[in-house]
Amino acid sequence: MFLLSVLIMGMSTFAVQSEEHMVAAGSCRFYGRHPKTRFKVEGEPLVLTCPQVLHWESTSAHVNVTWRRNDSAVAVPGEEESRVWVQDGALWIVPASQADSGTYICTVRNASYCDKMSVELRVFEKTDASVPLIFYPQIIPLSASGLLVCPDLSEFIGNRTDVRIQWYKDSVPLDQDNQKFLNVRGTRLLVNNVSMEDAGYYTCAMTYAHKGRQYNITRNIKLRVKKRDEETIPVIISPHQTISASLGSRLTIPCKVFLGAGIHTTTLLWWMANDTFIEDAYHGGRVTEGERQ
Ligand SMILES: *[C@@H]1O[C@H](CO)[C@@H](O)[C@H](O)[C@H]1NC(C)=O
Ligand SMILES: *[C@@H]1O[C@H](CO)[C@@H](O)[C@H](O)[C@H]1NC(C)=O
Ligand SMILES: *[C@@H]1O[C@H](CO)[C@@H](O)[C@H](O)[C@H]1NC(C)=O
Ligand SMILES: *[C@@H]1O[C@H](CO)[C@@H](O)[C@H](O)[C@H]1NC(C)=O
Ligand SMILES: *[C@@H]1O[C@H](CO)[C@@H](O)[C@H](O)[C@H]1NC(C)=O
Ligand SMILES: *[C@@H]1O[C@H](CO)[C@@H](O)[C@H](O)[C@H]1NC(C)=O
Repeated sequence: MFLLSVLIMGMSTFAVQSEEHMVAAGSCRFYGRHPKTRFKVEGEPLVLTCPQVLHWESTSAHVNVTWRRNDSAVAVPGEEESRVWVQDGALWIVPASQADSGTYICTVRNASYCDKMSVELRVFEKTDASVPLIFYPQIIPLSASGLLVCPDLSEFIGNRTDVRIQWYKDSVPLDQDNQKFLNVRGTRLLVNNVSMEDAGYYTCAMTYAHKGRQYNITRNIKLRVKKRDEETIPVIISPHQTISASLGSRLTIPCKVFLGAGIHTTTLLWWMANDTFIEDAYHGGRVTEGERQ
């Protein structure tokens, strides 16, 4: 499921003025909860990245990113002194515990502007029962070679070149390259001659050292093998009704789409206003399309 949002900015001069006043007073636009809950396992390092930072990247100079739990007024410290810290704008927890589950608020600000968004985190006990809750779905078409990707590792890998990944199929380690699996030590596993039997659960794992301790980082992948003739017709789930809004307020309209057997990279999503693309209909940027999630 993917979300595309249209953000309709404040309309009147009055609203803009009061907003600048609010930023000066330390207040901040709240963009709401990010739709994707982060599922992680206990005992492993985790990194939460700030969802709205994407929008800031072009203007990233002098940006201050802070994190706090929604039930705490105190920001997470910027130093690596405790188990929980903020580094390069991301929230690090090494290692995670179930008590870390909750709502976290990321605030991004510069001298003139500020916005924030909340992220839901759920940390599970590491058991076989939790695996189906924490898997990443991936799809490879039948009768081709395809890649499985060990996801969400970039913060842990950085520019390290010595990273070794261990791949497992149904908990059985893939020990060396063979006709079926290639690059069994890399972040991308090549699957040859893909057949329906290749579908199922895969795990990839790496170790991460922090303050003299080694931690495992594991990712579970559920591979679906897609028959070539499967239809991929996306379905818009919402919105279907007329949306009400009050004059002068900010409005976000999420668009939820079910892709079925479709793949992210082969599906296009866009908004139109009266059969006109949003960027053509609203040159001033008052109405903009959000990132696809
Ligand atoms: C970021 O903002 C927080 C809260 O306003 C402040 O305490 C901190 O010093 C700022 N950090 C930097 C690097 O500007
Ligand atoms: C924090 O978020 C949770 C939902 O994750 C909510 O139940 C709780 O009321 C929030 N607490 C505060 C202080 O906002
Ligand atoms: C602050 O960020 C906003 C939004 O990205 C940008 O338009 C503005 O130019 C930035 N201001 C400064 C002083 O960097
Ligand atoms: C691909 O796999 C099928 C059965 O899974 C087998 O019959 C066929 O010979 C394999 N082809 C190659 C090129 O390995
Ligand atoms: C990491 O995984 C390896 C292999 O499964 C295991 O032997 C080791 O005990 C694990 N280490 C930790 C800290 O969980
Ligand atoms: C869409 O069409 C209606 C009716 O013709 C018009 O009132 C409205 O301004 C149009 N909106 C945009 C964004 O072009």
